[in-house]
Amino acid sequence: MEFLNEYPFSERLIVDSHAHYDDERFEDERETLLTALPGAGVAAAITCGCDGQSSLAAKALAEQFDYLFFAAGVHPENRENHTDLSEIELLAAHPKCVAIGEIGLDYYWDPDHKEDQKAWFEAQLRLANRLDLPVIVHDREAHADTLALLKKHHPRGVVHSFSGSPEMAEQVFRLGMYIGIGGVITFQNARRLPEVVLSMPLDRFLLETDAPYMAPVPFRGKTNHSGLILLTARKIAELRGISTEEVLRAAKRNTEECFGIEV
Ligand code: NI
Repeated sequence: MEFLNEYPFSERLIVDSHAHYDDERFEDERETLLTALPGAGVAAAITCGCDGQSSLAAKALAEQFDYLFFAAGVHPENRENHTDLSEIELLAAHPKCVAIGEIGLDYYWDPDHKEDQKAWFEAQLRLANRLDLPVIVHDREAHADTLALLKKHHPRGVVHSFSGSPEMAEQVFRLGMYIGIGGVITFQNARRLPEVVLSMPLDRFLLETDAPYMAPVPFRGKTNHSGLILLTARKIAELRGISTEEVLRAAKRNTEECFGIEV
């Protein structure tokens, strides 16, 4: 696992709004890593479930580590593991469950079952609204339908790993929601994302890893973790012409607002 040599601030400023610490890629070093992260500047992280089983694992991690929160939900790729949302609703009652997620639409992975994906997404948007919880939304190559359902249900929350246009971001902001920015912003081939980062208001974005995936440059392809958010924050700071500390502080504040937590 790659660590940065230096964390330059005296205060822990990194808040990771989206990770998957139950992922099997962490199997051998999960305890060691999660114990080390506060020393690398991590103040809080939200570990997201993808179905009942991984949401349960996320809950166990949040109970073990003070700085971890979790989200419970059925990811569009995991629909076949479920018949209903009773398990998710039960987990959502936990005091460290801060959102329903991750939920959404993935037309890249499964272009043939759009209606079924939409049904699961809508059911979970309704659940979140009924429980007064924000949502963590996955949108891959499904921008129009994602936006339509967000407009229909008006949840609070974040469109994670945002990949839409600046115009779509504007519509997400108008709904009162946030966008999540991760390691992709450091990739050479990030297409529209730099434009989005340049035009977004600083009170509308969250930082995220999607760990173990999406590690920022120069660790692209390696195992990602919340400590590496510093590299994503540096890139955003460079694009916006502000300090890295400002980026981290804004994202920390926004994540607290989005999920109603204090870190
Ligand atoms: Ni994710």
